[in-house]
Amino acid sequence: METITKILNGSGIAQTIRARLKTQIARGPKKPGLAVILVGQDPASKIYVDFKTKASREVGMYLETYHFEENIKEKKLLKLIDKLNKNKKIHGILVQLPLPSHIEDLSVLQRVDPRKDVDGFHPENVGLLAMGYPRFISATPKGIMHLLDHTNIDLVGKEVVVIGASNIVGKPLVQLLLDEEATVTVCHEKTQNLKVHTEHADIIIVAAGVPKLLTADMVKKGVVVIDVGINKVDGAVVGDVDFEKVKERASYITPVPGGVGPMTVAMLLENTWEAMCAIEGYRPSVI
Ligand code: GUN
Repeated sequence: METITKILNGSGIAQTIRARLKTQIARGPKKPGLAVILVGQDPASKIYVDFKTKASREVGMYLETYHFEENIKEKKLLKLIDKLNKNKKIHGILVQLPLPSHIEDLSVLQRVDPRKDVDGFHPENVGLLAMGYPRFISATPKGIMHLLDHTNIDLVGKEVVVIGASNIVGKPLVQLLLDEEATVTVCHEKTQNLKVHTEHADIIIVAAGVPKLLTADMVKKGVVVIDVGINKVDGAVVGDVDFEKVKERASYITPVPGGVGPMTVAMLLENTWEAMCAIEGYRPSVI
């Protein structure tokens, strides 16, 4: 039987979520407040932060942005986080990663009040997720689970291969997939033969940052492919998947751009909305 590939339209799904949030925020008791901290001049980080701030303004959030020089002292950053933790207008605090090497990620991430940790990077929130009691789920893994939900494929017992084991995507994603009773294999930079793992997989999620890492000969017909990669090749943005060829074998596939990226932004907004509800003791009606 011929496989008819469906392109998972992250932009469209994200737009629906943002429209719902905009309505909820307009009806809510208080504007959710988000503080975004960016350190240094990393071009990719600047672009991500631009997307996040633009989207949060658009849904009606209160926003504070902080952009520091690369050489900022860790102490100064921690002091700002202390202030934001106490600020009643702020419900979510996001520190864009990566941070420069003289700053220790862990010191910064664990300084954020865990109830304002809308990225889900605080050790308390990482632990809650690992135990199956998530408070804040990191935006990219949460967005991927939403996209999988849109395929209407039951994850129970399915063979899922995750390529990439980062704290931001791969590791939290494994927890979420296990909670859905999928059979999860994690591959990473040191995996010797990727194809051995990918060729039998029902679902493959690639977050490696390597253009065309996943090629058509590595996947079975009917596979679901989620591409988390954002790479620049000859001035164009491409993912980690050889999209045109893998598309011919997949039942569902996400494009880059327009797949996972917009979902990440929408999930950050949703987390900030949820943080506001929890902190202000507000129970929204379902819409
Ligand atoms: N860097 C890459 N992805 C992310 C993310 O989801 N949140 C933050 N804070 N930094 C990132």
